[in-house]
Amino acid sequence: MTTDDRPRRTARLGDKVALVTGAAQGIGAAVAGLFLAEGARVACVDLNADRLRETWREPHDDRMITIAADVSVERDVVRAVTATADAFGTVDILVNVAGVAGPQSAAGETLVEDWDQTQAVNLRGTFLTVKHCLPHLVERRGSIVNIASALALVGWPQETAYGPSKAGVVQFTRGVALDYAPYVRSNCVCPGAVRTPMITEVLEGHPDRERALAEYGSIHPLTGRLAEPIEIAQAVLFLASDDASFVTGVALPVDGGFTAA
Ligand SMILES: NC(=O)c1ccc[n+]([C@@H]2O[C@H](COP(=O)([O-])OP(=O)(O)OC[C@H]3O[C@@H](n4cnc5c(N)ncnc54)[C@H](O)[C@@H]3O)[C@@H](O)[C@H]2O)c1
Repeated sequence: MTTDDRPRRTARLGDKVALVTGAAQGIGAAVAGLFLAEGARVACVDLNADRLRETWREPHDDRMITIAADVSVERDVVRAVTATADAFGTVDILVNVAGVAGPQSAAGETLVEDWDQTQAVNLRGTFLTVKHCLPHLVERRGSIVNIASALALVGWPQETAYGPSKAGVVQFTRGVALDYAPYVRSNCVCPGAVRTPMITEVLEGHPDRERALAEYGSIHPLTGRLAEPIEIAQAVLFLASDDASFVTGVALPVDGGFTAA
């Protein structure tokens, strides 16, 4: 390798504007933080306005804005995309992280409202943000990364609403990749179990919380532990960046080998 061939250490998103949903905590906050560190300007979107303010209360100069919005509500999504374009001029990268765990129940015991709410946030929300960011993304030759789940790829008990919502995200991602090539790349990441409030808050008050967390971790052959949010964010960064210029339509498991079995 000559000197000129060596990879240059640059901010990998130096000239990019990213809209990240679910950015108040967990995986979304890790993605937004990593993107800022890589030089992007970032619009952090989340339903939870208090948590959004708390997470991003440190000044991050003029490269970051926060927007309280519900991704399942079209007018909120339009407002979020408009606010991002007003602040930064465009959207180059859309990362859909906002999501809900939904009910833990078999089909017969699942309430219709819980089913609808899970699809509304996880699947409809993904569709809405993509739909309204597309004019910018097409113009900018941009990129989409959706967060699906390993549970989009394998069946799992008591995940009646969540599994199908995430399987829908995978298929939606592929369809967008085909419809918008060569202008927009569209990929998704399928995480295993990640140490975020989605898991830790569900186990609040559990009689043996540490053991329950360890059980979640034990599904991953590679490590036997939960993933950290930054380990998911690094995969998102790759897919979002120009490093993935020949990658579209993929559902990338980042799951410590869970779905390899
Ligand atoms: N944690 C895991 O083990 C895991 C595994 C696989 C996939 N995922 C997926 O990763 C994504 C992030 O999960 P997390 O673990 O960081 O969860 P989290 O609950 O810690 O964070 C999710 C964020 O999304 C926000 N949100 C929820 N509904 C919203 C809405 N309607 N509009 C806007 N924002 C909304 C929440 O306020 C929260 O800040 C989700 O899509 C989740 O399904 C998580």
